[in-house]
Amino acid sequence: MTAAGARPLLEVENLRVAYGQVEAVRGVSLGVPEGSIVTLIGPNGAGKSSILSALAGLVRPAGGRVRLGGADLTGAPAHRAVAAGLSLVPEGRAILGRMTVEENLRLAGERRQPPGALAAAIDEQCRRFPILGERRGQLAGSLSGGQQQMLAFARALLARPRVLLLDEPSMGLSPILVGQIFEMVEQIHREGATILLVEQNARLALGVAHYAYVLEHGRLVLQGPSRELAEDPRVQAAYLGS
Ligand SMILES: Nc1ncnc2c1ncn2[C@@H]1O[C@H](COP(=O)(O)OP(=O)(O)O)[C@@H](O)[C@H]1O
Ligand SMILES: [Mg+2]
Repeated sequence: MTAAGARPLLEVENLRVAYGQVEAVRGVSLGVPEGSIVTLIGPNGAGKSSILSALAGLVRPAGGRVRLGGADLTGAPAHRAVAAGLSLVPEGRAILGRMTVEENLRLAGERRQPPGALAAAIDEQCRRFPILGERRGQLAGSLSGGQQQMLAFARALLARPRVLLLDEPSMGLSPILVGQIFEMVEQIHREGATILLVEQNARLALGVAHYAYVLEHGRLVLQGPSRELAEDPRVQAAYLGS
């Protein structure tokens, strides 16, 4: 998966997540090597968001271990996960629609950037996503779905993450916008980001990722280089509609 001997930047070992009696994630191990895009695909309800939520410190794992750059982050609360370098772009984007674009960015960056650095960091994101720069003073709720997804990316990138966790960035967007969002994912990756991408759109995810894991009912059922998985008859039958 990586060069011989190299440990992945993000290491997840035997992760378990439970909501009361519901076991959503039942012992998942995966690795995200530095500089790569790794995707986690699988049907609705498989446990994909639960894995990202556990990594981002939004739910406490029921078991297992999470390491980033070798440091143990298991069960770290959200602010510590962010400080350590894990930023989540959540499913459904969680934009604050009644606040402006600028306010959304400021709220996300305030606790992650030293005072003084925040304005420059926001400027940097507005250069990266020029449409956000143009709409800085507008209510975030007035942005199109694709623009809101850009805002969600910008918000996560403000923290200068070591690994960006993307939860279904294509959800609810038209095919054209989905294409644009995936181009953006590739651009962010070219600029140096390491990405763990959760997607139901397996075709697109396998197209951009280097390595892929398939999750069903809280367990990994297949994994491999994306190009190989895309050729796998089981993946084609279940996820690629062929
Ligand atoms: N907050 C929650 N409380 C109880 N059950 C949950 C909660 N979040 C998710 N689940 C359940 O956990 C399972 C996995 O959900 P989720 O991680 O959202 O899957 P996915 O992102 O792959 O669609 C599902 O059965 C879902 O109903
Ligand atoms: Mg989900």
